[in-house]
Amino acid sequence: MSVSAYFDQMSYGPAPEADTEARNWLKHHHSTFGHFINGAFRPSTWGKTFPAFEPATGKELAMFAAGSAEDVDGAVSAARKAQGAWAKLPGHQRARHLYAIARMIQRHGRLLAVVEAIDNGKPVRETRDIDIPLAARHFYHHAGWAQLQETEFADHTPVGVVGQIIPWNFPLLMLAWKVAPALALGNTVVLKPAEFTSLTALLFAELAAAAGLPPGVLNIVTGEGDTGALLVDHPGIDKIAFTGSTEVGRVIRQKTAGSGKSLTLELGGKSPFIVFDDADIDGAVEGVVDAIWFNQGQVCCAGSRLLVQEGIAPKFLARLRRRMQTLRVGQPLDKCLDMGAIVAPVQLKRIEALVNQGVEEGAEIYQAEIDLPKGGSFYRPTLLWNVQPTSIVATEEIFGPVAVAMTFRTPDEAIQLANHSRYGLAASVWSETIGLALHVAAKLSAGVVWVNATNLFDAAAGFGGKKESGFGREGGREGAYEYLKPKAWANAKPRAEIAVPQLKNTTGDFAAPLVDRTAKLYVGGKQARPDGNYNRPILSPKGKVIGEVGEGNRKDIRNAVAAAQSAASWTGATAHNRAQILYYIAENLAAREEEFAARIAVQTGRSASSAKAEVDMSISRLFTYGAWADKFDGQVHTPPLRGVALALPEAQGVVGVVCPPEAPLLGLVSLVAPLIAMGNRVVTVPSEPHPLSATDFYTVLETSDLPGGVINIVTGSAMELGKALASHNDVDALWAFGSAELSTMAEKASVGNLKRVFTDYGKAWDWMDPAQGEGSLYLRRATDVKNVWIPYGE
Ligand code: NAI
Ligand code: MG
Repeated sequence: MSVSAYFDQMSYGPAPEADTEARNWLKHHHSTFGHFINGAFRPSTWGKTFPAFEPATGKELAMFAAGSAEDVDGAVSAARKAQGAWAKLPGHQRARHLYAIARMIQRHGRLLAVVEAIDNGKPVRETRDIDIPLAARHFYHHAGWAQLQETEFADHTPVGVVGQIIPWNFPLLMLAWKVAPALALGNTVVLKPAEFTSLTALLFAELAAAAGLPPGVLNIVTGEGDTGALLVDHPGIDKIAFTGSTEVGRVIRQKTAGSGKSLTLELGGKSPFIVFDDADIDGAVEGVVDAIWFNQGQVCCAGSRLLVQEGIAPKFLARLRRRMQTLRVGQPLDKCLDMGAIVAPVQLKRIEALVNQGVEEGAEIYQAEIDLPKGGSFYRPTLLWNVQPTSIVATEEIFGPVAVAMTFRTPDEAIQLANHSRYGLAASVWSETIGLALHVAAKLSAGVVWVNATNLFDAAAGFGGKKESGFGREGGREGAYEYLKPKAWANAKPRAEIAVPQLKNTTGDFAAPLVDRTAKLYVGGKQARPDGNYNRPILSPKGKVIGEVGEGNRKDIRNAVAAAQSAASWTGATAHNRAQILYYIAENLAAREEEFAARIAVQTGRSASSAKAEVDMSISRLFTYGAWADKFDGQVHTPPLRGVALALPEAQGVVGVVCPPEAPLLGLVSLVAPLIAMGNRVVTVPSEPHPLSATDFYTVLETSDLPGGVINIVTGSAMELGKALASHNDVDALWAFGSAELSTMAEKASVGNLKRVFTDYGKAWDWMDPAQGEGSLYLRRATDVKNVWIPYGE
């Protein structure tokens, strides 16, 4: 070609990164790997192995041990043995270990970047500039939390031995997101990488050992889904941290239900990318490139739903198609690439099938007319438009380089369309009007929102989803808490059975006051008769009828949830307003203190002074949350960009609360007050044996300016009503206190919409002790942190 022809075309030649060091490392291991357990490689106990392939060529790359039950057991034992000493190290010593690992990642950055690109098929430009530096950054950041643990998390201890299961889309980075916080805070780890991409986890284990990490602190067991399942089921595991498909996340939620294993799930997404007509169009087009063609679109938070304001849609899509023509797809080691290979043939087929179905359902399709390498799993950058919001390509995670475009007219419509998804991981908003962008950001149901940007990550800013995108956060202070447990509840004992009183024959007992009224349910700010028109008598411990309450059923729960949903303005009320109402409730309760104390005494048979103490503590607790309402606020992170990330604790929405049987008034106040202080609306099932304090309490609410629907009270069976709450898809979270069976049911039945469950596993704690019964332990569970990234500059 002549020089002038080069100038006409301005095309790049290939610029391949050398892979000698990576291939030598593979050769050194004879391309065959065992598990990494207790500081050394060991083969699988049953001799079973499986291969992994190079996505870009389809050639076999290496063989791995398939983890058996015995392998998993060996790894868990090694982790258990190491955990005590690891947790006892001073924070500074653990910080030194994490720092050494961070330095090791940096020193071997090139090797890691090349191995990752070969193994996963992603461009080396991305592994070199994003995956590996961010992995190192996570170890630096968490070295800091180890250093600060004794002061910043003094009231918490490590969870123990953690099982971690990760996907193939960011193999080393997902490892770093999980291993760094776990180790920093005194836990030990058994990690199972994804079967397609085990290499960098094993290389990492080798490097960590060389950096002096004690044996057993980090163990890697390779294998497929069944090995992951063995880890989930292992009784020696205290916590499971999972990233992957929503389908497997659900299975794990169900299998761990009631076990007391702590759980975090980082699952799928269908994140909106919203472009308003006043956006910087060229910036937004580049944004789409990063949102959906980064990592071949195999990104949980990929901006896969492109929502464009109607007026600019034709122009925007035309520019986007033009930009697609200049994308480069090729061999991952070419340094001038936009896209590499899809991780495996099975994923390629899945993408093809979904796109075909979308087209059958009426979508129009444009695919970049560019050269694809021969062999290997490659897919063209693809744009679908004229897509109905109900089409499979608009609702399902495609997990490939496919943008799906729809239009909207008004900001309200954009918000509605954006939130019309069972997922809620991330979102991206493009507008030059800062007021509009932040207004929309606040209304989006997502754990992360990027304003005029996309796919930004930092170890200091938590990452994680809402709704079926899972629960828990990775990174930041909120992520650190996921690897800790409160000391306050550590010694809680299984709750003693509350004896069910038997009805006594009270004929002729003229001293006993007769039942004069039946307490109704409290729904939407009004007293309501139970749907089934049944009542249940409430007995004193001696077996005397002291009152009657409505027998609530599933329909009553549905009505109460609907009332709570329509009280959404409470979530938008100012913190000052919420605080004022909490103080007012406390004041009105104080005015009726004697009456409430007497009621507690007659229900429970406790002494007058103990009953009075419970009322006093309830009044104080209402004040506590009135105090916190305008103080439990967020943080401003300064991630490495020109801009800020606002960490905002947000209400979860509608929360079901099953109150513990003991402490009829204080149990309810301790759970409901932190929730409403943070802007949630609740449907609560009061103490099953002693519900009369709750039905009295709503007469306090009626005089306290609390808007109708913010607190709804349904009396009846804790188990039956709890089940109705757990399986209701418009309930966002469930707090369930009572029997161990109730906890198991709550965690199992909540799997439908993956609601957050806060439960005591049948252990009782002392509500009278403020360390156990109030404060940030509850406020953190009443909220989810949303990180809103706002870059600035002209
Ligand atoms: P997957 O959820 O099956 O795999 C993720 C990890 O879980 C792997 O390590 C796997 O071995 C393990 N696993 C599988 N079954 C398990 C079980 N029963 N118990 C414990 N561990 C188990 O995801 P897969 O099959 O690789 O991809 C399928 C789809 O899932 C993708 O097309 C994508 O839509 C979604 N996905 C989403 C990810 C995300 O980051 N949001 C990551 C990976 C997949
Ligand atoms: Mg799978």
